Amino acid sequence: MTNTILNFQRATGHEVLAAAGKKYLRPGGRIATEKLFEWANFQPGETVLELGSSFGYSAIALAKSYHVKVVGVEKNPGSVACARANIRAAGLENQVEIVEGNIFNLEAIAGKFDYVLAEAILTMQSPLGKAKLLAEIHHRLKPGGKFISHELLACDKEEQIHDDLARVIRVNSTPLSETNWISAFCAARLQVEKCQTDSMNLLNLRRMFQDEGIFNATKFLWNVLTQRDIRKRVLEIHQVFHKYQDELGYIILCAVAQ
Ligand SMILES: C[S@@+](CC[C@H](N)C(=O)[O-])C[C@H]1O[C@@H](n2cnc3c(N)ncnc32)[C@H](O)[C@@H]1O
Repeated sequence: MTNTILNFQRATGHEVLAAAGKKYLRPGGRIATEKLFEWANFQPGETVLELGSSFGYSAIALAKSYHVKVVGVEKNPGSVACARANIRAAGLENQVEIVEGNIFNLEAIAGKFDYVLAEAILTMQSPLGKAKLLAEIHHRLKPGGKFISHELLACDKEEQIHDDLARVIRVNSTPLSETNWISAFCAARLQVEKCQTDSMNLLNLRRMFQDEGIFNATKFLWNVLTQRDIRKRVLEIHQVFHKYQDELGYIILCAVAQ
């Protein structure tokens, strides 16, 4: 995913943020991901399927800290190449594998998993897409396996937020309220055991420096300031986040397959 091949007018929000140098593309940032991992209670040798694994940062953190085996699925070839390079650099080729493919078509991946992890991926789907993906997640979990999920929350004004977000992110982004997320999980026989919500952190400056580090956060800001096409898109997205600052947030959920 390089600036030379990306059409900044049409690219999705996460592609623009990634091209500007943002490494973590999830609404609650690293702090929310770490809380999810704590809830999961991974045991060494257990297996994790990660949907939309992007640059492999969550998969690497999981393998390093919890000694689990991770299979990530990612459709963007540039992100797959970057993730594989990151995994090699971390010396984790025996523990982490990235499959290039579509999360709606998981035939290439064999077996069932102790966990499925998905961050900032269900929000992008229509109601039908969400239901389909949640059913597939249930199917891929061993009995009693856990789905750990990190998504966008709309406490109120779901429809208005969907319209504005879909326009600036160029993806059918449909955040739900806490009640509606839990109902969607329940309908797929995923029983929510733990759930937490808080405000959005994706473009929060303080959080960005904490998550990305000084060098990377400064590089991101420099790219936004100096590259007009990136700046236009990031400001558009930021305006919508700001408009709904009282309604938009993140949600993390840990659910057990029934
Ligand atoms: C918003 S980003 C989140 C990335 C990562 N999970 C994180 O939290 O940093 C969504 C990722 O999912 C990938 N993705 C979107 N739709 C996909 C699909 N249908 N199949 C596989 N990957 C997909 C995108 O390419 C992108 O890397």
